[in-house]
Amino acid sequence: MIKKGIILAGGTGSRMSPLTKAVNKQLLPIYDKPLIFYPLSVLMLSGIKDILIIVNKGQLNQFRKILPNGKNLGIKISYAEQNKPRGLPDAFIVGKKFIGKDNVALILGDNFFYGESLTKKLKKCIKLNKGAKVILHWVNNPSSYGVAKVNNKNKIIKIIEKPKNYFSNLAVTGLYFFDNNVINYCNKLKPSKRNEIEIVDLLNKYRKKNKLSAELLGRGGAWLDTGSIKDFYNASAFVSALEKRQGLKIACLEEIAFNNKWIKKNNLIDAINFYGKCDYSHYLKELIKKY
Ligand code: DAU
Repeated sequence: MIKKGIILAGGTGSRMSPLTKAVNKQLLPIYDKPLIFYPLSVLMLSGIKDILIIVNKGQLNQFRKILPNGKNLGIKISYAEQNKPRGLPDAFIVGKKFIGKDNVALILGDNFFYGESLTKKLKKCIKLNKGAKVILHWVNNPSSYGVAKVNNKNKIIKIIEKPKNYFSNLAVTGLYFFDNNVINYCNKLKPSKRNEIEIVDLLNKYRKKNKLSAELLGRGGAWLDTGSIKDFYNASAFVSALEKRQGLKIACLEEIAFNNKWIKKNNLIDAINFYGKCDYSHYLKELIKKY
């Protein structure tokens, strides 16, 4: 069972400069809330309450203003700083103390997930006891991502980072589930040509031991990229269209916490006071009226 989760929210955001010169990418808006709300909501939907957010050195205060310690959401949020973007598996080196002897989930701070059966799938994934698990999604531009090929038992038989030659449309999304061996394996990783330790090398260590499985987010689900400014606009349009149509918010953290029975009505009132007069607070007010 996985009870701890890490959000890797550092990185230079260089593709989005000058927007990212003063502000961390994960604090920029996807429609009506900061990007980081979306990966955080994914961990919360899976039932994970103990969360470490890894940020760039010097950016802690930016994050604490919006996500102080998690108490307001009935969860525990702690922070760690990454000195420089050394690669995704650095999350397990920086987060070693936080992980301790437990299993852990990792979500990249810029990953957006949405879909009908998402929560059900997430709850299945956190049952992991041994090995590692990734979430795969069909995309039309696989060469931009980690790419995997699976057998009929959803075991991964091949996985390559940004392959030049096509072999599958299944992208490896930025949501991973690991047993505690991840710490040992990370210590053995060597930097790649681009001088980063690579998540695919880590996953291949599990694959070689036949311990890497996959969950597929089907075509009824959405996994969106937020790497570039254009991606931010596309993801914002997606959220805006759904929220307008349904009158329901995607990644409203207080709503998820309330539905999970982690917080009570008075916490929703505190949140309304914290956010002030805005559309998000209005939504929380309506939520209180419903219950
Ligand atoms: O989004 C899924 C993809 O993420 C996977 O398919 C790839 O296998 C995986 O390597 C990764 O690819 P990207 O090229 O998108 O990774 P990027 O370097 O852009 O980093 C993703 C996020 O992680 C971004 O929000 C910045 C953050 N980050 C990244 C690195 C390398 C850190 O916080 N620290 C780091 O050291």
